[in-house]
Amino acid sequence: MGNMLEDYDHLLNIDYKKPYLFPLAGPESLIHTEGRRRFKLDGVWNFSLDVYDTFLRKKFFEERYHDEEGRDIPVDCDFDQWETVTVPSCWNVQKEAYTYYEGTGVYTRRFQYHGDGTGRTFLRIGAANYESSVWLNGEQIARHEGGFTPYMVEVTGKMKRENRIVITVDNTRKLEQIPSINYDWFNYGGLFRSVELIGTPVRFIKHVFLYLVPDGQYDKICLEAETAGFKAGESLKLEIPELGVAKEFPIGEDGRVKTVIAAKPRLWSCDDPYLYEIAASAGEDRVTDRIGFRQIRTEGKHIFLNGKRIFLKGVCCHEESMERGRALTDEDRLQILRTAKDLGCNVMRLSHYPHHERMAQMADELGMMLWEEIPVYWALMFREEATYRAASGQLRELILRDRNRASVILWGVGNENPDTDERLEFMSSLNKLAKELDPSRLTTAACLVNIDSMMVQDRLAEHVDVVAINEYYGWYYRDYQGLGRIMEQTKLDRPLVISETGADAAAGQFGDEEELFTENHQSKMYRKQFELSEGYVEGIFPWILFDFKSPVRMNPKQGGFNRKGLAAEDKRYRKMAFETVREYFDGK
Ligand code: GCU
Repeated sequence: MGNMLEDYDHLLNIDYKKPYLFPLAGPESLIHTEGRRRFKLDGVWNFSLDVYDTFLRKKFFEERYHDEEGRDIPVDCDFDQWETVTVPSCWNVQKEAYTYYEGTGVYTRRFQYHGDGTGRTFLRIGAANYESSVWLNGEQIARHEGGFTPYMVEVTGKMKRENRIVITVDNTRKLEQIPSINYDWFNYGGLFRSVELIGTPVRFIKHVFLYLVPDGQYDKICLEAETAGFKAGESLKLEIPELGVAKEFPIGEDGRVKTVIAAKPRLWSCDDPYLYEIAASAGEDRVTDRIGFRQIRTEGKHIFLNGKRIFLKGVCCHEESMERGRALTDEDRLQILRTAKDLGCNVMRLSHYPHHERMAQMADELGMMLWEEIPVYWALMFREEATYRAASGQLRELILRDRNRASVILWGVGNENPDTDERLEFMSSLNKLAKELDPSRLTTAACLVNIDSMMVQDRLAEHVDVVAINEYYGWYYRDYQGLGRIMEQTKLDRPLVISETGADAAAGQFGDEEELFTENHQSKMYRKQFELSEGYVEGIFPWILFDFKSPVRMNPKQGGFNRKGLAAEDKRYRKMAFETVREYFDGK
């Protein structure tokens, strides 16, 4: 096939994308954004589906509207005449015809820039699923892979008074991606988080990371900072006014600062989500953040927050709105967090990919712990370097984005992946990377149960801090006793949590407790789960808070939705099981 294609390439231009495989932007492109000058490019953009990649094939980015003699020519790239959409958004919810579209969408707008020519300017794309490229005034300036994490590109000196930006987004599922081509959620496509310009001085602070030294003394804060353009010996100042911290530290040869400061902060917890205003300054740069200080650690089989043993009263949640796809608003996020609070949760598993950064900021403020994860989900091309690069890149981007968020206590490095040698190498490396990047959190993954020996048996279990299992006794396996045997027989030297358990229930369908898809059965399933896991696990995360769209759910009772929600997809209707779980959590 390869040779035959080469024979035809001169005719068919098979490799039309090759000139546009711009070097991928990754975690190294990210800089601290809190407290900076930010100019959002959100709002009305022009848009078109691009089913055959005509934008590239016909080089629309050149915007040629006239022939050599200056005469108008009929063009398809008359961007200003295209339909308009609001960014951020997902095209699937834009119109009925786009619901299941998988392919390229082209977003574009004009914008004026009134910079004074001093300092530096960076463009930040909050997230675009899955692969996106950016053109500014006709020049391709960035490309990124990964559907749920941000990337940036410097645009200093590239902008004029009047500018044209084009962002192409391609949500085609591909084998080598993270996730791969088969998963139990809806493949929303689009530019679904904010696009903005961020200004910095010429020399600036790239990153600031503050955390309580996790030694159980609660009396020291670690500062890790990275700067750009400063010489060794210049200083970076850290201010935490409420703690009386206002201290300068020398910047090293590598532009970094790593130091420990004596301080006894009021500790962040769900009941007291206390946040400190912090500021870091160097040269003409000054950045801020609001940071909570807490310690999460394991000891033996138990989990401790600030030295107090805790039980993770959790729930899983996708990032989805029926009206907005994945482009949630703060109101949507508040509704999700408040519903989890009503359920009695102290933690949420933001499945199965990084949610918007506002979720962790709001969880910081409301006092909700979070498990955040990357979509290393089910089977992947574990042997491929490109696949590992994608996974480790997404993990770095997530950790760099959210590591100052006290609410985040767990980094999840994977979910239910077949136990092979390649997968063990792949995921233990991701686990090691998370531990290296962030000593202030725990790692976890949904590991595997061996249903022959009826115990948790997964070689990954000895690498992660908290072993998690997804089990569906009472649903996929009707015999509950299997769960009892797993609980009795599993011997681990570290905490075990149930990261998923659940049963589908059609909202409003009632009947016998043994009748599948009834609310009665879903409620009974949870009663049995709590009865059989009590005392064996350090936490449980019902799958899932709300019903959600999934093309793999073809049972007529599901109708394209996974209906294991404790509440319906409208986020209002609460099923019987919601109260069952709330009662159990209330008693914990
Ligand atoms: C799996 C998987 C979920 C899925 C769930 C289910 O454990 O992790 O993403 O939705 O089971 O079958 O409903």
